[in-house]
Amino acid sequence: ALVSMKEMLNKALQEGYAVGQFNINNLEWTQAILAAAQEEQSPVILGVSEGAARYMGGFTVVTAIVKALVEEMKVTVPVAIHLDHGSSVEKCKAAIDAGFTSVMIDASHDPFDINVKTTKAVVEYAHARGVSVEAELGTVGGQEDDVIANGVIYADPGECVELVKQTGIDCLAPALGSVHGPYKGEPNLGFKEMEEICKRTSLPLVLHGGTGIPTDQIKKSISLGTAKINVNTENQIEFTKVARQILTTDLEVFDPRKFLAPGRDAIKKTVIGKMREFGSSNKA
Ligand code: G3H
Ligand code: ZN
Repeated sequence: ALVSMKEMLNKALQEGYAVGQFNINNLEWTQAILAAAQEEQSPVILGVSEGAARYMGGFTVVTAIVKALVEEMKVTVPVAIHLDHGSSVEKCKAAIDAGFTSVMIDASHDPFDINVKTTKAVVEYAHARGVSVEAELGTVGGQEDDVIANGVIYADPGECVELVKQTGIDCLAPALGSVHGPYKGEPNLGFKEMEEICKRTSLPLVLHGGTGIPTDQIKKSISLGTAKINVNTENQIEFTKVARQILTTDLEVFDPRKFLAPGRDAIKKTVIGKMREFGSSNKA
């Protein structure tokens, strides 16, 4: 069942767990994540960066793959197809027109009033079509595809409250020290701000840069209002580890399925682990 994120995240916030956003790159990624969700009876968000959508052949190709798999695999749990870090109103509209059920507009690098204006335009278009919207304030560190940050800027709680009030978004990603890609040392998350922002906005919060955050910090984030956690790099690492192992030990391998299928199994296993850690298993 393809749905927006709205209900699944509000339920998660109420019941004290988080739904995972797992980014997809191709057919195998999508199969692995959907299989994990169905087996765990967990709601799931398929994250699609603009780069990944380009790689897969465009937004319409992404939705066609997801829809066909949901049907063929008899997936009954709630599934959202979500544009990750949408870079403009136009890109968000194109994703929605192609059948995405959720979008993130990331105007976090713009001045506050421009961020509000851009986000508001996306909300207007999305909500008229039953599509949910995530927005961001502050700066997530590291790099993911086209999204490159120099340094980390913590979101300002006052600005978060104002953005939510002025735009009517469904969930908010306040950057509070998390990083895309691996961490150098332990993450230093702004839990005080997290708690304040959730209390004052009553919205489900999103934690980007889920790879490499220790379980105790994950649990604490969930207890303070985080209801969506994005994981990308960890699945890439686990897939590539398995594929590399096979390719370097057996130099005769040329059939791609010989390393794609075990890589796909590794993603499924990783995603199941995350669902259990986030508490979303059996919450479909
Ligand atoms: O938007 C996607 C994420 O924030 C993923 O971050 O690659 O560090 O897991 P990650
Ligand atoms: Zn992100």
